[in-house]
Amino acid sequence: MNSTPQQFTASEINPLQSLDEWEDDVLRRYPDPDAIATAKAKEAYRNYDAPARDTVAEFYRLNHQYQTYDFVQQKSADYLRFGRKVMPVWDAFDFLNQLVDDSDPDTDLDQFQHLLQTSEAIRRDGHPDWMVLVGLMHDMGKVLCLFGEPQWAVVGDTFPVGCAYSDKVVYPEYFSLNPDFTNPKYNTELGVYAKGCGLRHVTMSWGHDEYVYHMLKDYIPEEGQYMLRYHSFYAWHREGQYGHLLDDHDRKMEKWVNLFNPYDLYSKNPTPPVWQELEPYYRDLIKRYLPDTLRF
Ligand SMILES: [Fe+2]
Ligand SMILES: [Fe+2]
Repeated sequence: MNSTPQQFTASEINPLQSLDEWEDDVLRRYPDPDAIATAKAKEAYRNYDAPARDTVAEFYRLNHQYQTYDFVQQKSADYLRFGRKVMPVWDAFDFLNQLVDDSDPDTDLDQFQHLLQTSEAIRRDGHPDWMVLVGLMHDMGKVLCLFGEPQWAVVGDTFPVGCAYSDKVVYPEYFSLNPDFTNPKYNTELGVYAKGCGLRHVTMSWGHDEYVYHMLKDYIPEEGQYMLRYHSFYAWHREGQYGHLLDDHDRKMEKWVNLFNPYDLYSKNPTPPVWQELEPYYRDLIKRYLPDTLRF
């Protein structure tokens, strides 16, 4: 029998029409500085209408309310055993692409196209090939949705749990709904952490960043691991918050996270890259860095 005290409709659990709605909102908050000076800016804002904003607000309400310290411990213990699926890397892209948004014919390109556009923009600028690989893989963790996780446990800006929230995290007012907000164990500036302990000792809200970091950490240089793990931690890399948790190593690595971020945000292009021309390069890249199969 169903023991859930409350029944939720699908749209109540997952208010976003597609995961892109979150990313469009990030782009609204951090617009492309190059586009601002041009007519492109107007075009870029076209999609940010009021209804989308409401669903994003509702999405963050759920995210901030339910991402407790205990919730993250549970999800980490479950998912970081990587016991769900073993897939060849190329099958994993097809699997990820099942996350299509049928509801909006005008919607963005599929998940793989976003990854490919990110990696191609990195490659065009002559960055090391491991960073191209990071571009190609950075959102693979969104497969969490396909394992039944709600949107608020997959995407959204990430933030430390187990200590007080910064008011520079988007929609900070919703944190008062989180039980940790009034728990004296978790609601002081340092909470469960020691000053300057380093981000590797900090538990972040659960989502696609943490998951893909653990999936790939053995195959990618540390600079790339930081890009994977903290790419949605905007309160740190864009807003300069949580300095009391950082150590010297984090401060050294931050520039790599900042180097990566614009490629994630600003590489979207309605003209898809021609995959047939790019395939040999990517087949070789993946062969050099990754095992034949990935565990999920
Ligand atoms: Fe992402
Ligand atoms: Fe992305």
